[in-house]
Amino acid sequence: MDFIWNEKTIDWFKTASAYTGFHSNLASLVRPYIEDCSTICDIGCGLGLIDLELAGYVRDIICIDQNETAIGALNEFIRARGAYNVVARAADVNTLTGERRDAVIMSFFGSSVEAISRFMSFCEKKMVLIVHEKPMPAKRVNAVSLRPKPLGAAEVHGFLTDRGLTFQKLNAVIEFGQPFKSLEDAKDFILVYASSTSEAAGARDADGRGERLYNDMAKLLVETGMPNYPLYLPKPKEVAVFIVDRM
Ligand SMILES: C[S@@+](CC[C@H](N)C(=O)[O-])C[C@H]1O[C@@H](n2cnc3c(N)ncnc32)[C@H](O)[C@@H]1O
Repeated sequence: MDFIWNEKTIDWFKTASAYTGFHSNLASLVRPYIEDCSTICDIGCGLGLIDLELAGYVRDIICIDQNETAIGALNEFIRARGAYNVVARAADVNTLTGERRDAVIMSFFGSSVEAISRFMSFCEKKMVLIVHEKPMPAKRVNAVSLRPKPLGAAEVHGFLTDRGLTFQKLNAVIEFGQPFKSLEDAKDFILVYASSTSEAAGARDADGRGERLYNDMAKLLVETGMPNYPLYLPKPKEVAVFIVDRM
């Protein structure tokens, strides 16, 4: 099971990004290390929000994701921003051949280092790997694996070191919490994520798991005093960025 992109999750994700500046901050962290790159390919781009932040500094960016809903949303963002040097393509990245770009970005993509080997051959100068410093364990319900453990910093570090590759590792804690329009919105958020995972195991929220998750989350909500987003669920996200030298 992969990330679920639909109208609601897209709206939450883009609202969180705009509210916290997560992708703008992430792009600022990465940018100095890819100044020599004018063409980029983002593998499994999702909504491509980091690419929109980088677009003003490079010649062009190709964003690829197999999820057509995410690519549709990215196309709308491209039009709204006039960022026409960003091209969004709906495709399975495993079917790609012959792409050559100065930089390849893989941001929170995949669960194994195999993808790094594969897409390394696409880049001329730099590979940018953005992963969780400490990945959450795999999501499981009744021993059914719903989402594999995402790639973590230790695994990537080991892989790059074993291969004798030259790289720099950057660490940052970047806020990426979720603003909510109301308590109902917050409840909807947790239920959408809870039920989507339970549904995959054929037990759609049968044991009231969503309600329990909501009660736990409600204790963490912060009042913002802002009329449009009065509630906020904080999340300092610990990211590791590997800049791998291909030259
Ligand atoms: C966790 S999301 C990360 C999205 C984005 N890179 C970010 O940092 O926000 C992983 C993305 O990879 C995409 N994906 C997974 N497997 C893929 C494949 N084989 N080909 C293309 N996209 C894929 C999913 O659709 C999803 O949008």
